[in-house]
Amino acid sequence: MRSLNLFTAFIPAVLIFLTTNANSQAPDRNSALDEKVRKFLSENSRQWYDMNVPAVDGQLLYDIIVKNNYKSALEIGTSTGHSGIWIAWALSKTGGKLITIDIDEGRHRRALENFRQAGLSEYIDARLADAHSLVRELKGPFDFVFSDADKEWYKNYFIDIDPKLKTGGCFTAHNISDRGRGYGGYGGQGEFLNYVRSLKNYETTVNSAGGGVSISYKKSDK
Ligand SMILES: C[S@@+](CC[C@H](N)C(=O)[O-])C[C@H]1O[C@@H](n2cnc3c(N)ncnc32)[C@H](O)[C@@H]1O
Repeated sequence: MRSLNLFTAFIPAVLIFLTTNANSQAPDRNSALDEKVRKFLSENSRQWYDMNVPAVDGQLLYDIIVKNNYKSALEIGTSTGHSGIWIAWALSKTGGKLITIDIDEGRHRRALENFRQAGLSEYIDARLADAHSLVRELKGPFDFVFSDADKEWYKNYFIDIDPKLKTGGCFTAHNISDRGRGYGGYGGQGEFLNYVRSLKNYETTVNSAGGGVSISYKKSDK
């Protein structure tokens, strides 16, 4: 009788464990969306000639978002959508959404078509606008930002976004090098990198595996 009671208590516990486990792993399974995105990326790997990030940088952005469970993303500089696809793919795992901005109508249209073909449109709000003004107008808050438009404006974008970036959030920027002079040392990227590194409430590293990505985590409000 006692062993029967133990048995009847054991079965629901096993069922709860199996259901919870199945749900928590569901986003990582080879879902139909994953297959569609992978197929799109592999079939279009040669079409990213519009100043797009290399795949290794796309994977880096994807990993940062998934690891931190970010949900509210902003991209400045959509071009034809390569980085946007990686970001939105990650957001499809976390239940988030991306706002991405570009000023060029041709590239904006091409990006919309690429997002549709990759199956990711529902995760993306693509705006055709001048980011200088739109970034100021957007309310946020954001927990992830990728800056990849006009380099001489990088510091201004950061200053406008900082109050709208959640503590624990991450500001990333492309074409950054911390090898002293050169790429990131001069011009807008250098000015931005020096500025963000001067802030005590941000912790900044640079990933040099691809085109150079600065990764700045906001550790506290001030
Ligand atoms: C390097 S590309 C972006 C590449 C994209 N992130 C990718 O990897 O697929 C830079 C883009 O920024 C856009 N851009 C430049 N200045 C801008 C501005 N003031 N507002 C919005 N977009 C701008 C350009 O039209 C261009 O498409």
